[in-house]
Amino acid sequence: MIIEMSNVSWERGDQTIINNINWSVHNKEHWCLLGLNGSGKTTLLNLINGYIWPTTGNINVLGHTFGEYDLRILRKSIGWVSTSMQQRLHGSERALPIVLSGKHATIGIYDSYDAADWSRAEALMETFGCSSLKNRTYDTLSQGERQRVLIARALMNDPKLLILDEPCTGLDLFAREQLLQMISSIASEESAPTLIYVTHHIEEILPCFKNALLLKQGEVYGADRTDYLFTSQRMSGFFDVPVQIEVKDERYWLTVKGDEWNK
Ligand SMILES: Nc1ncnc2c1ncn2[C@@H]1O[C@H](COP(=O)(O)OP(=O)(O)O)[C@@H](O)[C@H]1O
Ligand SMILES: [Mg+2]
Repeated sequence: MIIEMSNVSWERGDQTIINNINWSVHNKEHWCLLGLNGSGKTTLLNLINGYIWPTTGNINVLGHTFGEYDLRILRKSIGWVSTSMQQRLHGSERALPIVLSGKHATIGIYDSYDAADWSRAEALMETFGCSSLKNRTYDTLSQGERQRVLIARALMNDPKLLILDEPCTGLDLFAREQLLQMISSIASEESAPTLIYVTHHIEEILPCFKNALLLKQGEVYGADRTDYLFTSQRMSGFFDVPVQIEVKDERYWLTVKGDEWNK
């Protein structure tokens, strides 16, 4: 079992941001997590990573129950790519040390690293087509380059779970497809980590994401196979507006019907 959440809620003041979530992710199941802005996706991820603590309910990640295990150790087995992570990185840091810092899941490099670590960081940059950026400082990288560096960083430690929180935000069409291609090749590897791909764009969901969790106003609207959930009828219910879903090249494309959405 990779993630097990039972009756998890997270309240802030008198607001319930995450409401009674039950969700199980088994080994080798790749999930997409879909929800509109503000539906609670990032909050749910912060709960998984132990950055915040559930108000009620239990969370078990990679076989460890929260409250009974050192989260700093657990986090080393979780790769994490998100824009909030980007904001925490130091802009003057160079790309190669950023990738290297993934080994201990730190922001900046404090620990000692051996030659094998440096070679692994270089090899990962090679894999993600960013070798030429090794000595560039983070603040000079384009958004697409940053995301690739962050994915390389997240894989530095051979994580069992890789979480990608809206990784295509701010990418142009081609950079997006390039990044998706890389994600698809990570998923197809024999030793691939379990992937969780978070987005509010249906078209980004790759065929490898066979399972989907639909989050609506902090609640689970559906947790099932992607091909079961992603129909015009179910998505219209999820979004509360009539939408049409088409499947092309094993990806889902959504069109909003009429002007119902504007009422
Ligand atoms: N620390 C916090 N304190 C209060 N409200 C929060 C906090 N973090 C998130 N929220 C609120 O919880 C809701 C869900 O946010 P978030 O999980 O970031 O959504 P998503 O990632 O799906 O866009 C939003 O309404 C947001 O304003
Ligand atoms: Mg978010």
